[in-house]
Amino acid sequence: MARVTASAIMELIKTTAGGNYISFASGLPDPALFPVDRVRELADAVLTEDGRAALQYGPAEGYPPLRALIAETLRGRGLAAGPENILITNGSQQALDLAVRALLNPGEGVVLENPSYLAAVQAFDSYEARYHVLPLDDGGMVTEALPAALAERPALAYTLPNFQNPTGLTLTGERRAELAEAIAGAGIALLEDDAYHDLRFEGDSLPSVCALAENPRAVYCGTLSKTIAPGLRVGYLCAEASLVVRLGQLKQITDLHTGSFTQRIVYRYCERGWLEPGIRAFCESYRRRRDVLLEALAAELTGIVRWTRPAGGMFVWVTLPEGHHTGALLEQAMRRGIVFVPGASFHPGGGGENTLRLNFVSATEEKIREGIGILSGVIRESLA
Ligand SMILES: Cc1ncc(COP(=O)(O)O)c(C=O)c1O
Repeated sequence: MARVTASAIMELIKTTAGGNYISFASGLPDPALFPVDRVRELADAVLTEDGRAALQYGPAEGYPPLRALIAETLRGRGLAAGPENILITNGSQQALDLAVRALLNPGEGVVLENPSYLAAVQAFDSYEARYHVLPLDDGGMVTEALPAALAERPALAYTLPNFQNPTGLTLTGERRAELAEAIAGAGIALLEDDAYHDLRFEGDSLPSVCALAENPRAVYCGTLSKTIAPGLRVGYLCAEASLVVRLGQLKQITDLHTGSFTQRIVYRYCERGWLEPGIRAFCESYRRRRDVLLEALAAELTGIVRWTRPAGGMFVWVTLPEGHHTGALLEQAMRRGIVFVPGASFHPGGGGENTLRLNFVSATEEKIREGIGILSGVIRESLA
């Protein structure tokens, strides 16, 4: 517990809740896009047609038809998945936690991107991980740095190949192959977090890292949180069948199983063909807002700061010149009515004091323009 601390983001959200801020800080999807009416209709259908089972305990590994459906989806992403390879989890956060608990002993090393997903780092921290961090560039994790990290004999590699949280960066196809082979060659476990896979606004989907090299301890994690609604708490992992059995035992200790009711709702939502149009609606709305944010940054801050241009997901990452501190900038920004997350807390390897994360899906297009105007003023004054 000594290394378990409150998330900087959760604290920031709590501090600013109810205030009249333009928020670029949260990691939350836009609730206006949640399919409330459809979920109501499905809740009714599940209770009418399958109510007793939906309110009963269920198998630890998950609702069998949903496992089969996720397996079919993942075969489309190049993974050799059958129902026996799928564990339904309480969001993909639980998938990450179970995988780390199973695959990492206290004091062992994790290879990961710097910066990386904060709540995964918190899970690693709680299992007393050591870190071997790799830098990111426009092509995602810099794989040239891998051999040195692997020479330190870590136990696990963690990667977010698509529209990484927090930077929005995507790992190139070539680097995916290099990473998969190097990890399998080193004989260590691989944890791939693909929470944003379906939120692609442009370009072709790239193969999953887990699909690219045989690795008996590869775990791929996904979620319905970003494409239906996070409150349903339905995520999943995909791994070798024998590992799924062991992770299922671990899940049983934790919470017996994921909700029988919500799993049936998610299954029917997908079965009725509502997932694809739902994803399109999320992508169209998020893409427009990303474009507005990027245009506003270009108009206000070209030549002053650098930023990423994500092909999907929910985040843009901004880098100020070295020596500037976004933690101090946040205080100024909040006084003028905007919030963002300073980048340092996403860095398990330290550094990043001059960076910040902008979520582009929480504010309206008009508020994004207004908010970037304010951010630009605050940045310009701090650099003057
Ligand atoms: C990269 C990443 N992985 C996993 C999760 C966990 O999401 P959930 O537990 O809702 O599936 C999130 C949530 O924001 C995320 O950003």
